[in-house]
Amino acid sequence: MEKDIFKGFKEYSVAEFFKKNRQMLGFSGKIRSLTTIVHEYVTNSLDACGEAGIHPEIEVWVDEIEKNEKYLVRVRDNGPGIPEKHLGKALGMMLAGTKFHRYVQQRGQQGIGAAGCTMYSLVTTGQPVKVVSKHGGVKLSCSLGIDFKANQPVLSERQVEECPPEEHGLDVEGVFGDTKYENSLQGVREYLKRTAIVNPHAAIIFNSPEKERMEYPKSVEELPERATEVKPHPLGIRPNDLLDLAGKVKGYTKLSALLQNEFTRVSLNKVKELQDLLPDVDLGMNPAKLSWGDAEKIVGAFGKVKWIAPATDSVIPIGKEQVEKSLRNILNPELVYVTGRPPKIYRGGIPFIVEVGIAYGGDIKSEGKGGVVMRFANRAPLLFDTGGCAITQTAKNVDWKRYEIKNFDEEPVAILVNVASVHIPYTSAGKQSIASEDDVVEEIRNAMMEAGRHVQKHLSGKRREREKSTKRKAIMRYVGQLSSDMAELAGNAEAEALKSRLTGMIEERFE
Ligand SMILES: Nc1ncnc2c1ncn2[C@@H]1O[C@H](COP(=O)(O)OP(=O)(O)OP(=O)(O)O)[C@@H](O)[C@H]1O
Ligand SMILES: [Mg+2]
Repeated sequence: MEKDIFKGFKEYSVAEFFKKNRQMLGFSGKIRSLTTIVHEYVTNSLDACGEAGIHPEIEVWVDEIEKNEKYLVRVRDNGPGIPEKHLGKALGMMLAGTKFHRYVQQRGQQGIGAAGCTMYSLVTTGQPVKVVSKHGGVKLSCSLGIDFKANQPVLSERQVEECPPEEHGLDVEGVFGDTKYENSLQGVREYLKRTAIVNPHAAIIFNSPEKERMEYPKSVEELPERATEVKPHPLGIRPNDLLDLAGKVKGYTKLSALLQNEFTRVSLNKVKELQDLLPDVDLGMNPAKLSWGDAEKIVGAFGKVKWIAPATDSVIPIGKEQVEKSLRNILNPELVYVTGRPPKIYRGGIPFIVEVGIAYGGDIKSEGKGGVVMRFANRAPLLFDTGGCAITQTAKNVDWKRYEIKNFDEEPVAILVNVASVHIPYTSAGKQSIASEDDVVEEIRNAMMEAGRHVQKHLSGKRREREKSTKRKAIMRYVGQLSSDMAELAGNAEAEALKSRLTGMIEERFE
């Protein structure tokens, strides 16, 4: 019997897995799939420029090949490009890249995005993507596909030329089926507009299938502060992370040395403390020998030791001024308030920061944008999976009535929330919504309430103004009559003089 069951036993590669489960990468629904493709390429461009210290200039084209079915997407940047040695794997191998193994705040973190797009092109149109990379004086043009069984890149039509070293960047183009372009809140156009809002240092151009050209020039000169790379904190990791590190990082013969050098806040004393808590695990063991059971015990002991919190300089916010400027530019509101809160820590070891900008009144209502929540993670817009996102849920749970916003969905109010972290707790590999980690939810909530209080101050000020002016008008209505009646009563008084004195008194009272 058993023999029959296991006849069909096979191994699969990660590429085959994602080919079957493409919705996990954001490829579900035609509109979303198209936005996902643009999102993956554009976030890569912004990350690459950020690392290379370049002002990003990104141009995006979406062309219709077959209406509501097949579109060509091209993204060109002026980043560092990719050297030939890494090009294939960067765009044609799942779980390969420069970010996954590092603790640094970037938009990408998994090493799947670009290869996921190559996969989508292959499975929906059978075509590889075309790539031109200029790097270090070499211009490499090629087509890239994936061998799904082996999760290996397939490079063809390779052409190499020299190019001036000052020319650099990546230009990727693919034809994608099962896609649809729509000018909606979840479409490419809105995606790029929101990207421009939170990346005022970047110049972004969008050429739409309707032959419209939208330009978002850079509006600030300074590049965002470079995020520093950090080491993981013991409280921020799980047993499989520890196993991963132990397997990947070479050059240690003792686990205790790896713990001290590859983690932050682990000193020799802390290692001793850990060893006392772990009588049956030898921290002097070779890291290659670490078993799941031991990793679990060690992570358990991490939770019992008192640690200094991790340094928080690894998280970089967009900044109060820039968010304020952006919100004023696009929404032309009556009031803008942006929080400037310090970083916090979730799961005890992962630093993050929450920025909330709130805009009220002005053009917001006239554009029919009442109650908008714009979500961002490390400056990348999140347009899908709204319901399951910690930001949306928290916004729903805040008692906005306390802040004089009676009906959030209908009032002229817009909120921008950016969560920045070395490790954003996404709910899935599609990276469109943030998981409800308690500490993150609490901080979003506090930041929203802080923003709410400012709106309340503004609105109650306005309300008091209104009440005063109604009262003043009501009293003023009687001044004329009152002064002539009093002048008559007094016999010789001048009605005009009385009127002006009374008016003066009222003005002073209701100033
Ligand atoms: N435009 C680009 N310029 C330079 N390097 C790039 C560019 N796009 C991708 N890369 C390189 O290719 C790697 C793989 O990109 P990919 O999008 O697959 O993964 P990632 O960005 O690391 O993580 P994620 O899956 O979260 O997007 C990146 O880590 C980066 O090293
Ligand atoms: Mg990426």
